[in-house]
Amino acid sequence: MKVLVTGGLGFIGANFVRFLSRARPAWKIVNLDKQTYAGNPANLAGLKVLTIKKDICDAKAVDAAMKGCDYVVHFAAETHVDRSILDAGAFLKTNILGTQVLLDAALRHKATRFLHVSTDEVYGSIPKGYSKEGDHLEPNSPYAASKAASDLLVRSYFVTHKAPVLTTRASNNYGPYQYPEKALPLMITNFMEDKPFPQYGDGKQVRDWLHVRDHARAILTVLEKGALGEVYNIGGSYTCQNRELIQKVLKLMKKPNGLVTRVEDRKGHDRRYALDCSKLKRLGFKHEYDFERGLAQTISWYINNEAWWRPLKVAGGYRAYVKKAYKK
Ligand code: NAD
Ligand code: DAU
Repeated sequence: MKVLVTGGLGFIGANFVRFLSRARPAWKIVNLDKQTYAGNPANLAGLKVLTIKKDICDAKAVDAAMKGCDYVVHFAAETHVDRSILDAGAFLKTNILGTQVLLDAALRHKATRFLHVSTDEVYGSIPKGYSKEGDHLEPNSPYAASKAASDLLVRSYFVTHKAPVLTTRASNNYGPYQYPEKALPLMITNFMEDKPFPQYGDGKQVRDWLHVRDHARAILTVLEKGALGEVYNIGGSYTCQNRELIQKVLKLMKKPNGLVTRVEDRKGHDRRYALDCSKLKRLGFKHEYDFERGLAQTISWYINNEAWWRPLKVAGGYRAYVKKAYKK
């Protein structure tokens, strides 16, 4: 088996590559990653994986990378909602056009399974209940809209070209190697420095937390057992409001309750996500991580791996982004 992974230098892609190399040691993994600000070779340190540093929008590079691959697992994307609000351009290019380039190459090379990694954000905010795979898509941020567009493109390749596709839609991931612009690593690393976490608005937004290793296992389950053309939700094992999460992390890190600054809310901020995962569970998937344990381990990981995150937070590009994004 030869698998092409895209975005393997990012948070979830790297955790997936690490998991896959243990779970399926005989499989050959090729990683195609442009190494944007979010792509970090240190995420794959110690692994023998060929990484091709190219853009998924580059049809020639994609063609070369896909040669001889049986499976494709497509993670590469621009992923931070706040950045998509500042500038949507790269999101549309990578997330939509990049997916099209990959789908065309997969058809040409006769890949037998193409798994497209997507997000619960495509359903939009739901005040109560759980989003199901057949629900109407109502993306609210430019990021979510670009992912919804890519989901529809994948669907169209199944109907039009009989492409062997699968789509997964996951909730908020947490765990090691997450770039510290996202809420949880930002929170943990700020608290380590006795700096406050900038809470958007009233902090009553609800997120569904999925350990990244459970996500990796769920993706392999769908890759091997999912029905072609289908969509599978991958939710987490714990749902809470952001303000509750902040208090939980403060308590675990033994920091004062008041280490929070309320800042202007994110534009178009979705209030609540929640996924119905019964379809995934019918494939035999069960969560391994309970949130309390996963969160405590994640905090320990950032405490023990300051050498991983510190250079990211002091880099000029990161500081310029923070200045722009949090100016109010
Ligand atoms: P990330 O931002 O940590 O990493 C993205 C990776 O893609 C980086 O390595 C980057 O270099 C690469 N990349 C970006 N543009 C590229 C391009 N044009 N060509 C090649 N490589 C490129 O992202 P993540 O959080 O690991 O998310 C991975 C996937 O999972 C994305 O598709 C995202 O939409 C989806 N997802 C993420 C979450 C989450 O909580 N983080 C939840 C659900 C779904
Ligand atoms: O739901 C899946 C999605 O989860 C993925 O598709 C996205 O790629 C991923 O980035 C994530 O999106 P969110 O916007 O939910 O994640 P983020 O970590 O940015 O924020 C989590 C919550 O915390 C959200 O309600 C916004 C809030 N937040 C975030 C930041 C960065 C704050 O209150 N303050 C902050 O500084």
